[in-house]
Amino acid sequence: MNNEHLTVAIVGAGPAGFYAAGALVSQKEFPVSVDIFDRLPAPYGLVRYGVAPDHEKIRNVIRIYQKTAANEAVRFFGNVEYGTDVTHQDLMASYDRVIYTTGAPADRNLGIPGEDLEGSLSATEFVAWYNGHPDYVDLNPNLDIDAVVVVGVGNVAIDVARILARSIDELSKTDMADHALDALSKSKVKDIYVVGRRGPAQAKFTNPEIREFGKLEVADAVVQAAELVLDSASEEVCENDRTARINLEILNRLVEAGVTGKEKRVHFRFLVSPVEIYGEGGRVNAVRLERNRLEATVSGYLNAVGTGEFETIKAGMILRSVGYRGVPLPDVPFESRRATIPNEAGRIKDPDSDAFVPREYVAGWAKRGPTGVIGTNKADAAETVKSLLEDVRRDGFGLRDRPGGNDVIDLLLNRNVRFVSYDDWRRIEALEQVQGEAQGRPRVKFVGVDDMLAVCAE
Ligand SMILES: Cc1cc2nc3c(=O)[nH]c(=O)nc-3n(C[C@H](O)[C@H](O)[C@H](O)COP(=O)(O)OP(=O)(O)OC[C@H]3O[C@@H](n4cnc5c(N)ncnc54)[C@H](O)[C@@H]3O)c2cc1C
Ligand SMILES: NC(=O)c1ccc[n+]([C@@H]2O[C@H](COP(=O)([O-])OP(=O)(O)OC[C@H]3O[C@@H](n4cnc5c(N)ncnc54)[C@H](OP(=O)(O)O)[C@@H]3O)[C@@H](O)[C@H]2O)c1
Repeated sequence: MNNEHLTVAIVGAGPAGFYAAGALVSQKEFPVSVDIFDRLPAPYGLVRYGVAPDHEKIRNVIRIYQKTAANEAVRFFGNVEYGTDVTHQDLMASYDRVIYTTGAPADRNLGIPGEDLEGSLSATEFVAWYNGHPDYVDLNPNLDIDAVVVVGVGNVAIDVARILARSIDELSKTDMADHALDALSKSKVKDIYVVGRRGPAQAKFTNPEIREFGKLEVADAVVQAAELVLDSASEEVCENDRTARINLEILNRLVEAGVTGKEKRVHFRFLVSPVEIYGEGGRVNAVRLERNRLEATVSGYLNAVGTGEFETIKAGMILRSVGYRGVPLPDVPFESRRATIPNEAGRIKDPDSDAFVPREYVAGWAKRGPTGVIGTNKADAAETVKSLLEDVRRDGFGLRDRPGGNDVIDLLLNRNVRFVSYDDWRRIEALEQVQGEAQGRPRVKFVGVDDMLAVCAE
């Protein structure tokens, strides 16, 4: 790196990180060098560790990131964690500008009794486990149970319900982590209850995702016609919102298709909230639900309000799928209510003084919270890069006197941080693909960090 280049560190190699890097290298105004750091050896964030294994085509987006990584102005440093391996001080001393794109890696609680019981898990953990995220290899969910309750009706809830409803034949063609394939091949789960606190018109899942439940090989969708009857406010929602309207049509078709006697069933339930998780011997054995009705707030938002009517579903596992949550980064402002990094158009703001924090930016889920599909992060990162470039135009690069030789590689080597370069990663990836090919799968994932580092050392 040198003084003629605008030097930018990007922390987090998920979609937001790669789109930000792509936007930086495609602009022609300033020569630029971009270093992307990730705490994991593998890049791509939730594209690798979130997207469902049976939705392999979605992962084709990686080709765009590969092009960005191939640009000679871009370097990848995997297995480098911001906060431990590199600090705020390091980055501020070595780069003109820093963009945080660390996503929203934690989960949200329901705040009901019984959440600490064994068998009460978040979808965040379960998804990371089946996708081979190194931090979740040892989750060992007990699948020797008849039923699972999935709380929430977003696309993540849909993903976990569908994975539980698939046959092992279907799953074994995917890149699901081997430990999860093994556990799911022994699964006794027959009934999966997906429960939404509001009505079907307020479901967050999208049309192709709910449509898939009419075509599952070994599972029927079970929808109660009575729960699809809309109040007038929800009818209005459907009139104005095409996704909601088509969701309703699909759900009604699922009612018509009925139950055909397949070995598993996915029950979609609406207007019910879990209020307590029951256990026996420290393990989940049932979930108590309260029936809700919708009540409009002054802003027009339709809230779920309990009616005092209850029912209990017997289940050995409850999976909370009620949204992801950002976590604070050392020395970076954090807004705890929204669990995001406070910003304006990607420029980080100090929440106390409301002043902009010079040279620091944010993009992706860390910026706007855990919503939006992969592509949403492209425009989001572009906005952040636009702000960054405007600031450079006005203030100059940032670090005027960059001392020679303070390349981050020296710093990492001095600290014995075993970073993974993009070439290293390509070797890991190639090996995963070769092993996958032999089994008719897209790849066989390495799950242990040490195993990945061993490939780099070969
Ligand atoms: C389960 C699930 C399935 C999804 N499926 C789809 C789908 O099928 N299609 C679709 O379009 N969208 C899907 N999405 C949404 C999509 O994944 C997100 O919009 C997108 O990944 C957000 O990008 P991001 O870069 O902000 O965060 P992330 O993808 O989470 O990337 C953040 C990166 O930062 C790294 N990081 C975190 N902390 C540090 C640190 N301290 N130091 C260094 N690195 C760090 C992480 O390791 C990670 O690589 C899904 C989301 C989830 C949760
Ligand atoms: N195939 C895909 O394209 C795909 C796959 C996975 C994820 N994604 C995207 O990733 C993002 C995150 O998905 P997500 O499913 O985690 O979030 P989401 O879409 O925000 O859905 C969260 C769900 O949890 C419910 N919920 C929240 N708090 C609750 C509580 N206390 N009790 C009961 N229910 C509660 C919400 O209901 P309310 O509406 O009532 O709040 C909502 O149904 C979304 O933008 C999604 O589209 C996309």
